[in-house]
Amino acid sequence: MKFRVVVAKVGGSLARRGLENLKLTLDELGSLDEAVVVVPGGWVFADISRLVDSSLNLKAELSHAMGILSMEMYGYMVANFGFSAATLKDLREVKGGDKLVLLPYSSGLHESELPKSWRVTSDSIAVWVAQKLREWGYDAVVLKITDVDGIFKDGCLLDRVKAEDVRGCVDSYALKLIRKYGIRLFICNGIRRGRVKGYIVEGRTLGTLIE
Ligand SMILES: Nc1ncnc2c1ncn2[C@@H]1O[C@H](COP(=O)(O)OP(=O)(O)O)[C@@H](O)[C@H]1O
Ligand SMILES: [Mg+2]
Repeated sequence: MKFRVVVAKVGGSLARRGLENLKLTLDELGSLDEAVVVVPGGWVFADISRLVDSSLNLKAELSHAMGILSMEMYGYMVANFGFSAATLKDLREVKGGDKLVLLPYSSGLHESELPKSWRVTSDSIAVWVAQKLREWGYDAVVLKITDVDGIFKDGCLLDRVKAEDVRGCVDSYALKLIRKYGIRLFICNGIRRGRVKGYIVEGRTLGTLIE
């Protein structure tokens, strides 16, 4: 085992709450001692692509490429906050303390083994990237940083939940990959300062672990 890499899906939900929230979350990730790979969501760029797809009914491989390109655009925005743009190939050589943001289109992920469908979103790609890192000898911890505390049941925040019991909150294909690879994904609130750091540094914070 080389060392642990933090794979953090940061998507539209945080950006939608104001780019200041996105910046503060990225600052928190940037302040960690560990290597971090941000997997960007698609946000408004994906919304536009979905709109075009819904009126033109694009071929699946074309709309999938647009979805992956949407993530790439968000990725460049993340790079603006001090993360180095990286391709999947670069991640094979990730160094301790690196702060990277994945460029999925430049990585060729629009032509990967993953299904070419809107079901394969950045949640799925975060889990898939974590599995690649594990195959390359790294340990990986996967976070989905969003704008809610985690998954609730009957009004109570769940500490942990089995992937097969999750409905919504995480995209369905990501749940399938979590089960397939035996990867755990921790959902936490990026609007509340210290949650991300608490989980990575102290091993616990408010949030939901999907296993
Ligand atoms: N556990 C949850 N319970 C209720 N709503 C949620 C939950 N997780 C996410 N959401 C809502 O669903 C929407 C999409 O969330 P998410 O998938 O985290 O965003 P994105 O993929 O754009 O980063 C957001 O509006 C968010 O507030
Ligand atoms: Mg989502």
